[in-house]
Amino acid sequence: MFKNFWYACELSTEVKKTPKRVRALGQDLAIYRAKNGQILALSDLCVHRGGSLSMGPVEDDCVRCPYHGWKYDASGKCVEIPANTAEKTIPQRARVDAYPVEERYGLVWIFLGDLPSAERPPIPEFPEFEDPDYYTIWGIFDWKANYERVIENGIDIAHAPWVHKNSFGNVKDPKVKDYEVTCSEWGFKASITLVSPRRDFFGRERGTKVVTTSVGVQLPHVSTLDLDLPNGMKMRLFDANLPVDANTTRTFWVMARNFLPYRWADPFSRKS
Ligand code: FES
Repeated sequence: MFKNFWYACELSTEVKKTPKRVRALGQDLAIYRAKNGQILALSDLCVHRGGSLSMGPVEDDCVRCPYHGWKYDASGKCVEIPANTAEKTIPQRARVDAYPVEERYGLVWIFLGDLPSAERPPIPEFPEFEDPDYYTIWGIFDWKANYERVIENGIDIAHAPWVHKNSFGNVKDPKVKDYEVTCSEWGFKASITLVSPRRDFFGRERGTKVVTTSVGVQLPHVSTLDLDLPNGMKMRLFDANLPVDANTTRTFWVMARNFLPYRWADPFSRKS
């Protein structure tokens, strides 16, 4: 698990004004929405006696620990210790870590590290999300597996003929052909052309279709799948695989398609 990267940790729609606990890279965070709509992320571990901040109330964009009432502001600094008498000052070390947060692609991205903003790697790219020709849906997969295994599964084209035989895989031609690899600063893509069975509405084979497939990785935790289908139809899958801990991964996936922009068609996209 790598520190000093942006990680998608939650769906934007799931973060409200009440704190919520999320787990990332083996540590718990308390996240909540401030009055101005900005999402704040603090360590969930109160530095006093380890209370869980995500179980406490929010007051003026500060969160109050439910155990002894220490109050932390958006920067993680403790600004009130209710048990202290007036002459006592708040120690400098009474603070929890606060993390930068951005919302993009309908996901909450938290920078888990300590690099200054100018030195941070970028949030992974997903240009189709902003493209008005594309319609998007979201979902979550939970895996009992290390995130590296999950990424490996995402870019493993040899499973397509078997697992996706009813969409773009061709079980009659499972051989992996030569593919072209293109590299970018933070990742790579490998493209391969598949000839797959064309199916009618009832799933019956009706000839073949050519599908150009690109699988990719954007470091350290995003895997992508681009499908160029016949008749200009395109589907893009963006998987942000959050390492919850060493043996657990939560995948926030976003799928964009430039056809059938209707809710009734969503189950077909999810199934494929
Ligand atoms: Fe949080 Fe005591 S444990 S205030």
